[in-house]
Amino acid sequence: MHWRTLALVLVEHASAQTMMPMMRFSCSQLVVDRIDPLVNPGIVPSPHLHQIVGGNSFNASMDPATHDLPLTSTCTSCTFSEDFSNYWTAVMFFRARNGTYMRVPQIAEEGLRANGGITVYYIPSADNETKVTAFKPGFRMLIGDAGGKSPGEARKVCHRCMPASGDNSNLNCAAPDAQSFPMGFCVGGIRTVITFPTCWDGKNLDSPDHKSHVTYATGSKATDVGPTGKCPESHPVVIPQVMYEVLWDTRAFNNKDLWPEDGSQPFVWSTGDENGYSNHGDYVFGWKEDSLQRAMNARCNGDTCDVLKTQSSEEAMKCMLPRTVNEDIDGWLTTLPGSPIVF
Ligand SMILES: *[C@@H]1O[C@H](CO)[C@@H](O)[C@H](O)[C@H]1NC(C)=O
Ligand SMILES: *[C@@H]1O[C@H](CO)[C@@H](O)[C@H](O)[C@H]1NC(C)=O
Ligand SMILES: *[C@@H]1O[C@H](CO)[C@@H](O)[C@H](O)[C@H]1NC(C)=O
Repeated sequence: MHWRTLALVLVEHASAQTMMPMMRFSCSQLVVDRIDPLVNPGIVPSPHLHQIVGGNSFNASMDPATHDLPLTSTCTSCTFSEDFSNYWTAVMFFRARNGTYMRVPQIAEEGLRANGGITVYYIPSADNETKVTAFKPGFRMLIGDAGGKSPGEARKVCHRCMPASGDNSNLNCAAPDAQSFPMGFCVGGIRTVITFPTCWDGKNLDSPDHKSHVTYATGSKATDVGPTGKCPESHPVVIPQVMYEVLWDTRAFNNKDLWPEDGSQPFVWSTGDENGYSNHGDYVFGWKEDSLQRAMNARCNGDTCDVLKTQSSEEAMKCMLPRTVNEDIDGWLTTLPGSPIVF
């Protein structure tokens, strides 16, 4: 089966299975840089490297009170041209036997055309009656823990060892997906999934830890797709489920002569984490006007949507930012950028 057809079948299958549509679209790489306007605003460089997609108004400060993403951006690397949000995660590196590091490239997922980056999902409610409330300007959130040393909230990140083509399961973060790095070669690369909460307190656009203003629905599971379960009284507003998928092209490193001789695995997050628990997803809302609410109300599916403006993959790929921090991030590096302590 052709890749594109297969991906469409998967989207349709997931929709049929869960009775819900899901927007799924690519955002090409905007920049790979050591800045983090959510956790370390104004600090250049930030402690570790991130890979970022979305609107090109992304910068180190992005003061929520004044920074208007749709107004300040002149392009977006995402498919829907009214989406100037920014989305970012940690970056994967390969560690060679001699202790040097090489950044692992990202590739687009099956059925999508992009320059690396992130596949972004917005999933409305499971039933047609529950209306989801789109985010407001200034809204931000974070999931995961850059210092995570043990398995955490299962939804924050999991790894899937991908087959050469075709996906092996419809449910993200269900076994054999794991929060730790896979222990063997993945012929189709390693896909990471990050799934955000679906309940908002309805008041705060952000919170000191960038997490407490949102929460997962009571009784929902890591493998649930979209807003399921009931939002608690503390966080009564149902928001779209945002989910990131990133496909890391580890294929060039699938060589037993390159892997550690002690049976361990060679990949490490830009945080310094060799186990896999420290990946994290950062989100800064930046859809123009009511475009996201329109798309949620219309229950748009896949990467086409009648009520949204779309740009070609070529246009999206042209939207890039120069790096702010001038340092070497490619080639064999003696330390990870920022030299985080390896754990
Ligand atoms: C980020 O962008 C805003 C809006 O254009 C600008 O006012 C601010 O100075 C920029 N900050 C940095 C650190 O570049
Ligand atoms: C370290 O190992 C890599 C991968 O085997 C190799 O390409 C690189 O040249 C080595 N670097 C040094 C300084 O030996
Ligand atoms: C929701 O509405 C769509 C379009 O009207 C319909 O095809 C679908 O069956 C409905 N789903 C449920 C769960 O009622």
